[in-house]
Amino acid sequence: MQPLSIANDVFWLGDIDFESRDFHGYSRSPLGTTYNAYLIKDEKNALFDTVKEGHGPILLEKLRQVLPPEKVDYIVVNHLEPDHSGALPLLMEACRPEALICSPLGKKSLEGHFGSRDWPVRVVTSGETLSLGGRSVRFIEARMLHWPDSMFSYIPEEKLLISNDAFGQNIASTARFADEVEPALLRKSLSEYYHNIILPYSAQVLKILDAIAGQGLSVEILAPDHGLIFRRPQDVASTLEAYRDFALQRPRKRALIIYDTMWRSTERMAHALCRGLADNGVETVVLNLKQNHHSAVMTELAACGLLAVGSPTHNNGILPLVAASLTYLKGLRPKNRIGAAFGSYGWSGENTKILGEYLSAMDMPQPVDPLKCPFVPDAAVLNACEAMGASLAAALEKHCAAACS
Ligand code: FEO
Repeated sequence: MQPLSIANDVFWLGDIDFESRDFHGYSRSPLGTTYNAYLIKDEKNALFDTVKEGHGPILLEKLRQVLPPEKVDYIVVNHLEPDHSGALPLLMEACRPEALICSPLGKKSLEGHFGSRDWPVRVVTSGETLSLGGRSVRFIEARMLHWPDSMFSYIPEEKLLISNDAFGQNIASTARFADEVEPALLRKSLSEYYHNIILPYSAQVLKILDAIAGQGLSVEILAPDHGLIFRRPQDVASTLEAYRDFALQRPRKRALIIYDTMWRSTERMAHALCRGLADNGVETVVLNLKQNHHSAVMTELAACGLLAVGSPTHNNGILPLVAASLTYLKGLRPKNRIGAAFGSYGWSGENTKILGEYLSAMDMPQPVDPLKCPFVPDAAVLNACEAMGASLAAALEKHCAAACS
């Protein structure tokens, strides 16, 4: 693909990764991803971010189509995670810029990732500006979005915000702009990315959204480093609003049941619980963890106010896929949900106690007692699961009402 002009003398030089399904080693990218990098041509030329190692030659080739690499005066590294800095050594060698610009914590990350290099590092802090001649760059530290080093680059003359990880989506597409794809696909990808990458830092998201509003930053082009670029006012506004909505984590009247099972006893309990919730007006999603990766669980939990978890007892514990999903969810710090635990057991029954401890660690109150069943659920147990679903539906209703009042 050719370099793409996204504004006058502003170019997208990224690469599309149609193959990636593993994002950062812990999450999934079912639709692939992109690594975006941007170039501004002015009296001084600035490259904003690089790409993942292996995609560097594509970036370099696109850069050469716009200007000779040695004409790049500045390389701005908004964030040092390797999907944005993996190609940095290649670009530093080809461009030999006047300065490599990063945040204070970026300098630390730079040294951590690349060791001691003879690179002309210039550290910038929030509010500092860099003149490119006709245009300028204002740096905005965006700590924890997604690492402590992260920052945004704002170009007021273009009303362009290069936001690195924030507002990204894992979409591999020949489309470059958000208005070129189905809105539902875009919203789902934005949510999936947020809830698997950004969610633990929701408090910082709200602060940066307030800072953008408070400083009166006018954003006409919102250019993240993953996925599609927002260029229409309504798309920029709705994306900023979506982030506020995600960060607030208001509970939704929707339930997620996740489980793993050995001989289908816990599975049958999960389905009975689902019937109890659905029959009482709660849309419910059931995910068997053998078929669903933990990042798909988080993507579903994004729109659910209730998490019900099922596991049989296994070796005095719970099944490993359940423990893995709960460990992952806990790290993402979901808030404002209620929880429930259930499962079958044979000769010892530690399962629901352990599940409850995971739920408590995520500050998810359990309004209904856990339900466990020896061996195989009979009709009475399945009825009890349905009744548990009914009680949880009522509790969820109350929880959502309390959160909205
Ligand atoms: Fe896209 Fe934090 O890396």
